[in-house]
Amino acid sequence: VIVLSPTIKDVASLAGVSVATVSRHIHQNSYISESAEQKVINAINELGYKPVRNIRNKKMMTIGLVIPDITNPFFSELARAIEDACQEKGFAVLFCNSDQFHVKEKLYIEFFMERNVSGTIFATNNLSPEEYNKLTDAGIPIVVLDRIVNNPLCTSVKCNNYEGAKLAVKHLLETGCKKIAHIYGPQEITTGNERLQGYIDVVKDEPWYTPTLLAPGYFEIEGGMEAVETLLSRHPDIDGIFAGNDIMALGILKTLKRKNIKVPEEIAVCGFDGISFADIFEPGLTTIAQPIYEMGKKAAEILIDQINHHKPMGEQQAIEMNVELVVRESTQR
Ligand code: RIB
Repeated sequence: VIVLSPTIKDVASLAGVSVATVSRHIHQNSYISESAEQKVINAINELGYKPVRNIRNKKMMTIGLVIPDITNPFFSELARAIEDACQEKGFAVLFCNSDQFHVKEKLYIEFFMERNVSGTIFATNNLSPEEYNKLTDAGIPIVVLDRIVNNPLCTSVKCNNYEGAKLAVKHLLETGCKKIAHIYGPQEITTGNERLQGYIDVVKDEPWYTPTLLAPGYFEIEGGMEAVETLLSRHPDIDGIFAGNDIMALGILKTLKRKNIKVPEEIAVCGFDGISFADIFEPGLTTIAQPIYEMGKKAAEILIDQINHHKPMGEQQAIEMNVELVVRESTQR
């Protein structure tokens, strides 16, 4: 086959692959199957193709990270772990706050593709299969963290929210609580929903249980403050509260202190996340600690392995890490 000045398209058609696949071989910085790579090499040799290495197209050694809100200590601790792991392997991290808005997450997908990042980590359960494929078809792997979608299109890393919630409520029962409320996170978020389910599955057969012992806290401090006011107006005799995350628990402790309600003597409080502030709270907050640093580190290591070894996106893992009950003053009755 004699082609005067072969182009990337000539290589692709001779090799029987897409231009994107030839490009991935040339830039050597995203996954490509071994069989496709061999076909491309044979075609390049046969045509005597000389790739023009367009520096602009060279992938930046950058990871795109999308988290709901960096001001929530859970996500800042998670981001710290991810950045440590990426920095160790020579990758910079682009931090993006989505506020859990799907429209912002879609914008970030475009943003990452334009900037040719090497890989992405999303803490969201909003993305559709098409949105995943948009990234992976462009040779940009994605790992999903914490809030997991149900489509196994990519590796995911989360904690065992359901078991953790049951652990929290059983601990409150063991401390002698006779009527336990739950302030829950947004139910459209998988972590909020799994924790609510864990609470209900432990208390649903208790004679005192009623759905009016549930109140939304939106995973926010102010949400926790308002929810405990609502619950106490409905049930002044509550003596235990399980909060769906630690910053709502912070709001609960503040409101109970303002109302001169003693914690844990009158109301015991248990949170969920295990942020470092939980220890500084007064009283110290009992919580279900997620392995925050390990989750972030694991997600980053898996992603970088996919980037460096061109792992086909088919080999995905659903990783679920265990949580741990950390008992402090807020439940020691
Ligand atoms: O505090 C933020 C919450 O949202 C955490 O519990 C975390 O699991 C995330 O889902």
